[in-house]
This record gives sequence, structure tokens and C-alpha cells, in this order.
Amino acid sequence: MGNVAVVGVQWGDEGKGKVVDWLSVRADVVVRFQGGHNAGHTLVVGDQTYKLSLLPLGVVRGTLSIIGNGVVVDPWALLSEIDKIRTQGVNITPDVLKLAENAALILPVHSVLDKAREEASGSAKIGTTGRGIGPAYEDKVGRRAIRVCDLTDPDSLGCKVEKLVAHHNALLRGLGAAEVNAKEITAALIEIAPKILPYTAVVWQLLNDIRHTRKRILFEGAQGAMLDVDHGTYPYVTSSNTVAGNVATGSGVGPSQVGYVLGICKAYTTRVGAGPFPTELFDEIGEAIGDKGREFGTVTGRRRRCGWFDAVLVRQAIKVGGVHGIALTKLDILDGFKELKICTGYSLNGEIIKHFPAVEHLQGKIEPVYESMPGWDESTQGARSWKELNANAIKYIRRIEELIEAPVALLSTSPQRDDTILVQDPFAI
Ligand code: GDP
Ligand code: IMO
Ligand code: MG
Repeated sequence: MGNVAVVGVQWGDEGKGKVVDWLSVRADVVVRFQGGHNAGHTLVVGDQTYKLSLLPLGVVRGTLSIIGNGVVVDPWALLSEIDKIRTQGVNITPDVLKLAENAALILPVHSVLDKAREEASGSAKIGTTGRGIGPAYEDKVGRRAIRVCDLTDPDSLGCKVEKLVAHHNALLRGLGAAEVNAKEITAALIEIAPKILPYTAVVWQLLNDIRHTRKRILFEGAQGAMLDVDHGTYPYVTSSNTVAGNVATGSGVGPSQVGYVLGICKAYTTRVGAGPFPTELFDEIGEAIGDKGREFGTVTGRRRRCGWFDAVLVRQAIKVGGVHGIALTKLDILDGFKELKICTGYSLNGEIIKHFPAVEHLQGKIEPVYESMPGWDESTQGARSWKELNANAIKYIRRIEELIEAPVALLSTSPQRDDTILVQDPFAI
């Protein structure tokens, strides 16, 4: 009886929200360990749709939910998300939600800088969510971040904010953007502190106690392996480690507690924002997948780019992330296609390679090598047992398992909570 870490193995939006909710019935606590409100995790229950960015999905079922130290937290965004989710009948109290006292804060200046830098980048834009994620992580690593615990000490807070603002104003001046005022930022933080502090906790200690009572922890990743700052398609990535290796440092449990690593993976590929995407489709098939899959960003509303399943990238994500098995989602979106393609390698200068090259100019030269599979006319939508799947759909799944060298532990066949097939219980391994 172990813990489970849910992580994306593509470019995010793989369906982590739905899977975390489904697994959270078996968990005693749900923990976010990286990212921030750049994430958008969707859960559909009947005609209710929940979209969460900072709050762990556990809150919807009232499961203890923790925002770990590895998350960058915009306190204003957190409170507004708590208010929004309350209007959907989900009550968030300090008994249900805990916030690590050592998490770094996102301040309004981070989002200003994020947007100003994107604006100044012209065609080299990353296509960030504009939420200040990159600048906030830079401040954390630069040892000048304001952390949740700093809100308890208004006397030293002012000095810390001044140090941070001196750095940011130099950058903003360089970008020709308006400077920010340290006193105003400090006052805003002092004002919001009483609303945030009731949620704070010594998370490493709390998780240690939970572990000793043999309770099960579910870790909820954000983004996906190809957006990982080390292992993704750098520089077109987010600013945190999204792979399961970060579960331990981002929550304070230690690497031996990570447990089963479940990679979430769409039955095709999508990406939102700029950057390489070898199997991207620019034709009516890509458009049809996007329309049918309703591929629009949860956070920014941007249309997601769509393409064929890339087994090279997913296999790479599985190896670097130590993934034990995958949850394959959105199989139903492929219903009705005559032919499906899977990328099994890349052709580069006449050779076939089985990894995504780190060198940017080579990324532009690789050509995907495809294997063709027959599609199916039968519907897989809403299937809740393996028997309901047609032979070609099963062949497609089996071929993916072979190519990525990992088993399908869960299969998702619609956005609805219960339209899920359990093949192998990640908590039982
Ligand atoms: P996340 O960021 O990984 O949590 O994924 P998002 O919530 O951003 O995007 C996934 C989208 O796919 C959401 O709208 C989900 O409701 C939807 N979804 C998840 N699983 C399935 C599935 O198996 N079939 C279909 N049709 N939609 C799904
Ligand atoms: P979930 O958790 C998809 C992308 C942005 C951009 C890049 C950097 O819902 O899967 P950032 O604002 O993080 O500096 O942007 O990363 N991105 C995501 N794409 N799903 C996400 O989260 C994402 N979070 C960030 O589009 O390309
Ligand atoms: Mg998302």
C-alpha cells in the first residue's frame, strides 16, 4: 500500500485533473508539488465542470489537500480560486487546505515582467501563460523570493520586498516598462496576510505524520515532462521540474516516499504555446482532433496545437521520469478516424534516432517516422470495461504500450469522472 504520483508525460493538459480526482477516492491526502496557477486541471461531474489551477483536485471531494513548498503561490489568485470554487458548492476551510509555509510567492510584479519579456521577445516568444511563473521561480533560486512565512513578520517583510523590487525595477527599466513601488507591494501583502496565514502548515511534518499512520498520499503534478525545465523542449518549457523526481523536494517527503509513478498521456498529442512539436498536424485531421477534443487551453483559452501520438517523446518522458505505468486519456476522440499514425522514431540526416535531440537546430531538422494503424468506427466513448472496446482500439493501445515500454494502468474514455477503466490499481502496487 504505497503512494502515487500523477505526472504529465507530454506537453501538459493530458487529463491529470480527471485522473487525480478518480484516484483521490483511494487517497487520504492530495499534494501539489510544483508549478502554480499556470496549471488548469478540469474535472467534469455530471453537468458541473470544475477548473482548478492552484488548489489540489482533492478539495472537490473534501480530501485533505496540500500546496507544497515547490509550488509558486499567487496569494490573490489562491483566494479568488477559493471563492470561485465555493460558488460551486465546494467549501474550502483550513481543515481541508494546507499551504506550505516555505512556498515562494508570486507577486504582481512577476506577471508584469513575464508579459513585458514576452512582448519584447517578438517571434522568439515562449507563449507563457503570463502568470509570472518564470520570474517567481527565478527569484526563488536567486534567494530573494518572498515566502508564505514572511507574511508573519511585517517588520522584516518591508526590507525583503525592497531588495526584490530593486532587482525587478532594474529589469523593468531595461524593458521600458513602468517601475513598481516597494511600499505598495508590502502594504498589499500585509493586507492579504490574515486571509492566507490560517492555511499555512509545516507541510514536511504533516506529511511525515501522515506517512507514519500509513495513510496514502496522492501527488498531483502540473504541466508535463516535455515542459520540464531540464528534460523538456528547452527553452520552450515552464520554469519548474515537472517530472516525479521533483515530488520529494517539492513537498518534503524524501525520494523513498514517491511510490508508483503514473504518467498521464493523451491518445494523441497536443501542445499550447510555442516550441517544437514533431508530429503536429496542420491539416484537416489536426483540426478535426482539436474540434472533437475541445482542445482549448483551460487557463488562457488559446487553441491547442494537435498531432499524432509521439511514442518517442512519451518513451523518453517515461524513462527520465521513472514512470511505472500510464493513464491513457481521450481515446474516444480518435473514434471514427480511418487511419491513425504513431511516431516511432525521427529521421535525422538519413539516420533513425529514438530520442528528441537537445540541440535546437537539429530539432528543426528531424522528420517523424510513422507507423500506420487502422482506425475504428465503433464508439469507445464512455466505455467502463475493457470488453466494451473494439479490436482495433485494443490493438492501438497495445502498440502504444509496446513502443513506450510501459503498461496502461488506467484508460479514460470521456471527461466524466466515472468513464474510466482500471487495469492495474496504482495504489495496490
Ligand atoms: P490537465 O491539465 O492534465 O488536468 O488537463 P486539462 O483539464 O487541461 O485538459 C484535459 C481536457 O480533456 C479536459 O477538458 C478534460 O475534461 C478532458 N478529458 C479528460 N479525459 C478525457 C477523456 O478520456 N475523453 C475526453 N473526451 N475528454 C477528456
Ligand atoms: P497543466 O497543469 C499546458 C506552457 C505554456 C508555455 C510554457 C511556459 O494544465 O497541464 P509558463 O506560464 O509556465 O511560464 O509557460 O508552458 N504551460 C502549459 N501547457 N498545460 C499546462 O498546465 C501548462 N502550464 C504551462 O503554454 O508554453
Ligand atoms: Mg491543463
